[in-house]
Amino acid sequence: MKKQKTNINARYKIKQTFEYNRKHGPYEKVQNKNGKIKKVLGDYGIDADFFGFKTKLPIGVAAGTLHSLAYMEASMRDGFEVLTWKTFRSEHRLAHRNDGNYLGHNIVFVPNDTIAKKEIGTDRTATLSYNGAPEEVSITNSVGMPSPAPVEWMPEVLAGQKLAEKYNKSIITSVVGTAHYGDTVKDLARDYAFVARAAESVGEKIIELNLSCPNVKGKEGVIYKDIKSSKIIAQTVREHLRNEDTKLLLKLGYADKVFYKRFLNVTAPFVDGIVAINTISMNVRSKDGTQALPGGLSSGTCGAAILERATEAVSSLVQARKELGIKKSELKIIGCGGVTDPESFIAHIKAGAEFVMCATASLFNPDLPLQIAKYLKENKIKRRI
Ligand SMILES: Cc1cc2nc3c(=O)[nH]c(=O)nc-3n(C[C@H](O)[C@H](O)[C@H](O)COP(=O)(O)O)c2cc1C
Repeated sequence: MKKQKTNINARYKIKQTFEYNRKHGPYEKVQNKNGKIKKVLGDYGIDADFFGFKTKLPIGVAAGTLHSLAYMEASMRDGFEVLTWKTFRSEHRLAHRNDGNYLGHNIVFVPNDTIAKKEIGTDRTATLSYNGAPEEVSITNSVGMPSPAPVEWMPEVLAGQKLAEKYNKSIITSVVGTAHYGDTVKDLARDYAFVARAAESVGEKIIELNLSCPNVKGKEGVIYKDIKSSKIIAQTVREHLRNEDTKLLLKLGYADKVFYKRFLNVTAPFVDGIVAINTISMNVRSKDGTQALPGGLSSGTCGAAILERATEAVSSLVQARKELGIKKSELKIIGCGGVTDPESFIAHIKAGAEFVMCATASLFNPDLPLQIAKYLKENKIKRRI
């Protein structure tokens, strides 16, 4: 594929804070590419049914980069079909700071070499500039899970649905519980349920529980690794939702098949789908060896570098679901991680994903839906999942 030069700051100014970007971005006028995509695809495409929303281009945006209506609309105009709001909380929270020693940015670029299993948690060198192809970008972020207060995000979710109607898209609202000092897992589960109910009360029909943010030190961070607590959270949320048709998804991080099988065995009865994977934790240093990001030495790496781990996780989940005798119609596996070009999108489909999401590419290669449409047409791909 022809590689283009990236206008790396067009969607997100890397040297600015997350909050600055939320307020001022995106920084370009985004063309509406939906008509062109439809024309390019013609009869080709991959027929997918995302909880009743039908599309031939099963690519969406995962939780993280859509934190305002302006970012939401930009990704809809890019041609992404399912859009996930950045994870919301029950209270206002800023992005990570370096405990008073403020560094000013929350994202850095890292080399796109594949992260081998044994390398997880080891060092990567960060840079603040990137001259490579948009299809090869890898980043690491220490954004964490900042959130506006419900009084601010609930009207945004409502307005997001109007946009979804206008552009014929589907929306997911991602939420997380907030743990306070002394809270039990049941307290945390109730907070998850409170935020999920708040989203449901403004009309959200698909809710994702983030159980896997590696940039958070509190209990809500990588809670998926604690299967018993994950079950309590999934069950509590399910019991508190008003509408039995509301779909519930769980966002997980990287793990192996044995773990996923144990996880699905106890959580599947309460949920309708799994989104995997979240970012992979790595230590990130600047060239001089110092910590590169606020919030701690380790942070969540994503983009091209995590594709292999992500497709491995999707295959493991699909296999685990099969071995447990759970039907596709009962539990969707939604692939996420390392999708930055059409080939990586296809790699997730081949691994068995019933829908594919990207986060990094939505900021740094927003032409991805159009590129995928062209790829499907050129390779005469027509299939159903
Ligand atoms: C800037 C940024 C912020 C993110 N914030 C969240 C978040 O709030 N909740 C969540 O579940 N995942 C979050 N993620 C993780 C993504 O949803 C996704 O799982 C991960 O980045 C892997 O996909 P990618 O390789 O396409 O980026 C974030 C990712 C990025 C890049």
